Amino acid sequence: MAQLALVTGASAGIGLEISRQLADRGYDIIGVGSSERIRELGETLPHAEVYPVRADLTTEAGVTEVWNEVAELGRELDVAVLNAGRSLGGGFLDTDIEDEKQMIALNLTSQVLLAKQVVKKMAEQHAGRILVTASMSALTPTPFESIYGPTRAFMFSFAAGLREEMKDHGVSVTALLPGATATNFHQTAGMGNTVFGSNDWKNDPAQVARQGVEALIAGKDHVIGGDRKTRLTALMHKFRSNRSKAGKFARDSRPTK
Ligand SMILES: NC(=O)c1ccc[n+]([C@@H]2O[C@H](COP(=O)([O-])OP(=O)(O)OC[C@H]3O[C@@H](n4cnc5c(N)ncnc54)[C@H](OP(=O)(O)O)[C@@H]3O)[C@@H](O)[C@H]2O)c1
Repeated sequence: MAQLALVTGASAGIGLEISRQLADRGYDIIGVGSSERIRELGETLPHAEVYPVRADLTTEAGVTEVWNEVAELGRELDVAVLNAGRSLGGGFLDTDIEDEKQMIALNLTSQVLLAKQVVKKMAEQHAGRILVTASMSALTPTPFESIYGPTRAFMFSFAAGLREEMKDHGVSVTALLPGATATNFHQTAGMGNTVFGSNDWKNDPAQVARQGVEALIAGKDHVIGGDRKTRLTALMHKFRSNRSKAGKFARDSRPTK
C-alpha cells in the first residue's frame, strides 16, 4: 500500500506544490483547504489517491474535521505537512484586531492542535515525518506585517523543540523557511501596494516545495526555501541587528498609498 501524507493548505501555492512532489514520490494525499477548490486536488494529482477535506482551520471544529478524516482512514500516517497559513499587511495602528485573531488561529492555534494529534499517532507508530512551513520572516522583525512574522517565529521554534522531543519516538520534525514566494499569499494579505505585491522577483513555489520535501525525507532540522540570493539573505540575517533588519523589511512591506 502507498504511504499516506496529510498536507494542510494543499489547494494552492506552496502546499499544492508539496502535495504534487509527495504524489510524484508515490504518497496518497489527505489535502486540506477552506474553499471549494480543494475538491480539484484529485484532478490535479490523477496518479495519487487523494482525500480532499474542506475545513476552516481557524476553528477548532475545522481541526477536528481534519483529524476525523485521518482517523477514519485507519491507516498509518507517514508524513504530516503543517503548511496552511496567511499574512495580514498594513500598520498595526490600522489593522483590524479581528483579522489578526483569525490569522493567529490559523497560523498558530490550528497548527498546535493538529500537531498534538499527529505526534500522538506517529509516536504510537514509532515512525513518521513532520514538515512545518515557517518562513524566513521567522528570522527578522516584520514591520507592516507585524503579527505575521512572530507567528512564523513561533512555528520555527516550536518545530525545533518538538524535533528534540520526538527523536526518541522515531519521528523527525523539519522546518521549511521559504523566502518570498510567487503565490497569491501577499495579495490575500492585502499587500498589493507594497514591494511584495509583485510576484516577478519571488521564488518559484515548485522549487521551494522540492527543497522542503527533500529536507523532510532526509530528516533535516530545517531548510531555507528559495534561490541562492534567498539563502544568502538568510545567512546575513544571522549577523545583522534587529534594528537594521526591521528597517530593510519596512522598505519592502510599507504600503505606498
Ligand atoms: N508565499 C510566500 O511568500 C511565503 C513565504 C514564506 C512562508 N510562507 C508560508 O507558506 C505557507 C503557504 O503559503 P502560500 O504562499 O502557499 O499561500 P497561498 O498560496 O495563499 O495558499 C494558502 C493555502 O492555505 C489554505 N488556507 C487558507 N486559509 C485557510 C483556512 N482558514 N483553513 C484551511 N486552509 C486555509 C488555502 O486554501 P483555501 O484558500 O482554499 O482555503 C491555500 O491552500 C504559509 O504558512 C505561509 O506563511 C509563504
